[in-house]
Amino acid sequence: MKPTKKQNWTDATRAIHGGESKPGVSGPVAGPIVRSSTFTFSDTAEMKRWAEGRSSTYIYTRYGNPTLASAEAKLAALEHGEAALVTASGMAAISSALLAALETGDELIATRQLYGGTYRLMRDILPRLGIKVHFVESDLAGAEQLIGPKTKALYVETPTNPTLQLVDIEQAVRLARRHRLASIIDNTFASPILQKPLEMGFDMTVHSVTKALGGHSDLIGGAVVGSEKWVSRARTMVIYLGGCMDPEAAYLLSRGIKTVGLRVGRQCGTALEVARYLERHPKVARVHYPGLPSHPQHRLARRQMRGFGSMLAFDMKGGLAAARRFCDRVQVFLLAASLGGVESLVVLPIYTSHYKMSQAELRAAGVAPGTVRVSIGLEDARDLIADLKQALA
Ligand SMILES: Cc1ncc(COP(=O)(O)O)c(C=O)c1O
Repeated sequence: MKPTKKQNWTDATRAIHGGESKPGVSGPVAGPIVRSSTFTFSDTAEMKRWAEGRSSTYIYTRYGNPTLASAEAKLAALEHGEAALVTASGMAAISSALLAALETGDELIATRQLYGGTYRLMRDILPRLGIKVHFVESDLAGAEQLIGPKTKALYVETPTNPTLQLVDIEQAVRLARRHRLASIIDNTFASPILQKPLEMGFDMTVHSVTKALGGHSDLIGGAVVGSEKWVSRARTMVIYLGGCMDPEAAYLLSRGIKTVGLRVGRQCGTALEVARYLERHPKVARVHYPGLPSHPQHRLARRQMRGFGSMLAFDMKGGLAAARRFCDRVQVFLLAASLGGVESLVVLPIYTSHYKMSQAELRAAGVAPGTVRVSIGLEDARDLIADLKQALA
């Protein structure tokens, strides 16, 4: 049998071998962590070539580093992008992607249902830079009428944090293309395993790799993936604003990515079992999980996702008091922010991702005081359901 060509590799193979150099004889199978902050030039002629943009050699880790480059190549392979950039956090990736596409005087269309940090960045910081943000609902209704000559970018997140609403990716791409907007999508909740927005026409995906891609709750990081053109613009932002990833984190990220397919696959199965259990529970008013037929966008989820993900949320009938009681009683689930790790977590969005938001903003984001967000890890589904049962009793 002929060996498969790299471009035909499936996700599992890309996640393991993408971005890794061929070890040769006695070579290390696990890539090295190149801790060096700086790199030598052979001579001043090489230094001059670099300054003139004629050499792509490593010079300084904020500009690039072999351990970072390996993680970047792995991410680009997995998400079917030409290039990728790793950053110090998901927020560094988001701000770098936005600043790659926008400058003072420009306008941005963004869905209102976003990770709270992204929403606050757009609400509080972008206007200070002279960038006007128009928020629209996740069905993009009315977006077309808000687009004018100054509108330069479209930003969406799907599924949304924390209430798992979906944006129709094909519809968003059509809108962006019709008006020549740079399109950016936060693909953190789905991960590249379940959703490949670049293949569907988005210009850039952004990730908090702190989540499923890292997968072990032991690193903070972000990524921008897309064409060479967009990634290089985002890289310029990282170089000047300074949000580069540390090599240690890049190594942990590459290690995490090797098992992301296995982890996410198993988490999708467990999340569906947990969602079904919660939906039947008398103390639960509503479960938000795209894999349930009761989810208003279940058909869209089937169309654009390859699985329904590890995240779900539910609203307690007894509101905030009941949600707090539940969170204070769980024993297997940990009470902690973040998501996508091997440990299952629960959190109250009004006190974490969605703090500093008005009642109207919370309502628009679909977050109720009694909303609990759940990140499913790799524990046995039976243990998780038993824990839910005792905490809800
Ligand atoms: C969907 C989403 N995007 C971006 C971020 C920000 O990522 P980070 O915390 O790595 O900066 C988060 C963090 O919770 C998130 O959930």
